[in-house]
Amino acid sequence: MSPAECPERLRAEMVTELRARGALRSPEVAAAFAAVPREKFAPEASASAAYSANDTVVTKRNADGKATSSISAPWLQAEMLEAARLRRGSRVLEIGSGGYNAALATEIVGPEGAVVTVDIDPFVTDRATRFLAETGYPQVKVVLGDAEHAADELGPFDAILVTVGAWDCPWGHLLAPGGRMVVPLRFCGLTRSITFVRDGERFVGLDPAVCGFVPMQGAGEHREQVASLAGGGVTLTIDTGPVLDVEALERALTGERTELWTGVEVDAGVPFDTLGLWLATVEDTFGVIWQSPDQEDDLVKLVLRWFNPALITPDGFAYLTYREAPQGEAGGRRYEFGVHGHGPSGEDLAQRFVAQVKTWDRDWRRHPGPDFTLYPKHAVVADPAIGRIFPKRHTQLVMSWT
Ligand SMILES: C[S@@+](CC[C@H](N)C(=O)[O-])C[C@H]1O[C@@H](n2cnc3c(N)ncnc32)[C@H](O)[C@@H]1O
Repeated sequence: MSPAECPERLRAEMVTELRARGALRSPEVAAAFAAVPREKFAPEASASAAYSANDTVVTKRNADGKATSSISAPWLQAEMLEAARLRRGSRVLEIGSGGYNAALATEIVGPEGAVVTVDIDPFVTDRATRFLAETGYPQVKVVLGDAEHAADELGPFDAILVTVGAWDCPWGHLLAPGGRMVVPLRFCGLTRSITFVRDGERFVGLDPAVCGFVPMQGAGEHREQVASLAGGGVTLTIDTGPVLDVEALERALTGERTELWTGVEVDAGVPFDTLGLWLATVEDTFGVIWQSPDQEDDLVKLVLRWFNPALITPDGFAYLTYREAPQGEAGGRRYEFGVHGHGPSGEDLAQRFVAQVKTWDRDWRRHPGPDFTLYPKHAVVADPAIGRIFPKRHTQLVMSWT
């Protein structure tokens, strides 16, 4: 084995990097990352790929080539474990298995605690069971089943770690009072990992973080409306609203476009993820646009590779774009936001979009972002003064700007 592929060395380097970027903050979580041999849970990857702090290891794909299971990226696992505030003796439920994350949790909770992990796919539970036994964590209880129906008698848990993209969150009743549930929650085409703390029947959301996960399968699966254009090169996604007319949107994409500029500038590398949340608050037509990395045409020019904000109607759309602006004070690259509108509704959408980018810039850009609270479906919830309620099957997600 070359020194570059030595797992112990790579593990130590990964821990150093995760500490340096602030993803690892507590000694307990750092010690777990230093102890668990990640490469043993990802035998399909080289040791250096397994220990890359930013990268997931895909472990299963469906017939279309889309990932259905993976070992999540170390930085995200570190953030989620830190957010869960596990202690020695905690009881933990993990939704979506793989083995590695359950082993990390087991290191933290110790022999006095307990870790249960549920996965819908027997391929995943079989290998997780095997890898956990081989690496010295046979005490983890691996359950094959659809987490939508996670049995009451499994709980209560001090923490629930959801490691699959969830559109809804039916697990609140399994959480002990004051317990924490870390969920990559999908709403209006976006995903935020949110830490929900149980307070009676409601769950108070903390620290929303941008992330992406493989989607939930089974009874909790949720399909957004998707219009795949330009042979799959450009994709529009919207969660609700009238049915999209794919042929009309295709014509809109290749037809004339409106270009408007906002005067709102951003330095390269500075996050602006509350802009999407603001647009989702005020615009029913909010969705996202993606460009395939293989698409070579200049049909669209997106600011973001993932989850680029868009407003979408059945026959037209507008999306956030950019152009180079004069350099910032520090001499770094700087961009101006603009909007491209396509189709019969494109110009109107683009004008509304520009107005909302300006509102965000004036009122919300320096604000930490909205609060999130989750309520059971039956709860009577007041409309937030500035915000939006996303109704789900089992819950209601309230996003509120205060
Ligand atoms: C990102 S992987 C989990 C990663 C894992 N926690 C780790 O150690 O890194 C997501 C998993 O969720 C599982 N999954 C999808 N839908 C599910 C459902 N309804 N119930 C339980 N598991 C589900 C998939 O089979 C997949 O293995």
